[in-house]
Amino acid sequence: MVNKEVYYSDYLQLDKILSTQVPESRIAGNEAHDEMLFIIVHQAYELWFKQILHELASICTIMSAPKVNDNSPAIYTVVHRFDRIIEILRLLVQQVNIIETMTPLDFLDFRNMLRPASGFQSFQFKMIEASLGLKFDQRHGQGYYLSQLRQEHKEIIGDIESKPSVIELINSWLERMPYFDVEEYWTGYVTGSGTTFGGHIFWGDYRDAYSNSLVEAEKDNLEDFDKLFFDDQYNSDRSLSAKAKRSALFIMLYRDYPILQMPYKLLNGLLEIDELMATWRYRHMNMVHRMIGKRIGTGGSSGKDYLKASLEKHYIFSEIAELTSFLIERRNLPHLSANLESKLGFVH
Ligand code: HEM
Repeated sequence: MVNKEVYYSDYLQLDKILSTQVPESRIAGNEAHDEMLFIIVHQAYELWFKQILHELASICTIMSAPKVNDNSPAIYTVVHRFDRIIEILRLLVQQVNIIETMTPLDFLDFRNMLRPASGFQSFQFKMIEASLGLKFDQRHGQGYYLSQLRQEHKEIIGDIESKPSVIELINSWLERMPYFDVEEYWTGYVTGSGTTFGGHIFWGDYRDAYSNSLVEAEKDNLEDFDKLFFDDQYNSDRSLSAKAKRSALFIMLYRDYPILQMPYKLLNGLLEIDELMATWRYRHMNMVHRMIGKRIGTGGSSGKDYLKASLEKHYIFSEIAELTSFLIERRNLPHLSANLESKLGFVH
């Protein structure tokens, strides 16, 4: 079979892409120079959003498998794709610099022609939020959301919400970790405290060591420790169950062991995504403040105040970030049994 000859601009369908920059001000007969930049920057964002969604969909498919082995290509692929998303997000934060070369007066030349359109209506942005784990009832400005988005876009986002999100899949993956369920891993384990907590000798030792690490003003942390890691009822409406949190803490504590390095990288990647999304929101909010001051957005929201609230409320992985409050120094960590150490990849 002879391969069809591919031509660059046909392959990329540039005739289509390059004909989709149509400034409203040009249509009105008085083209504002900066509207081209405004359109191209938004389009570039949307293309990258598409790529992020492509990566997230494949990550969710891999993570939906009933068993994701922590020492298999699957987990490497997931970490690799999250790394790619992280690099794209870094670029998206940088891209705010380009739109900031437009001055408020340049923007005023065409801003009023855009109403009521707004970046708020970016359904791909909302798909990313939903795919990571943001549900409708956790959104800031729900009434605004319902009134501003087209029905077809609400349906697409609703469809994503109805499927397992990244945080839900991470929760199931963490819950499946076998470290405290397999008795033989603990044969030969030498206990420090001799007490069992939450049904396991390790947690008796760890709770003891954690309690000893707290200064007077932090003594209440022990109560939080008990609730977050051992009270199923308390965690019932949180993203991560008590069992999942115990696994995540274990990964963070013993991440120097070969088998736990990828899981640790995965958890760390999620925190990086939250941080970069928040950094983007923060930069976008400040850019908006600089561009329109205290005026309302073209989409009709309170502008900067709306953006500040969504910045604070739309973190997805804060329950993972919070776990660092419960770490202790490496030198005080309970020593694992030789059995478990060899399972984690250190051969004696
Ligand atoms: C002159 C530049 C920009 C201004 C003045 C601006 C202004 C605003 C304002 C005021 C809002 C709140 C909703 C509203 O009332 O309209 C908003 C939301 C939003 N904008 Fe922009 N924006 C600009 C550029 C961009 C760019 C380049 C993107 C890239 C896609 C973007 C994406 C978004 C998104 C995703 C939201 C929703 C954020 C959330 O719900 O937390 N904006 N924008």
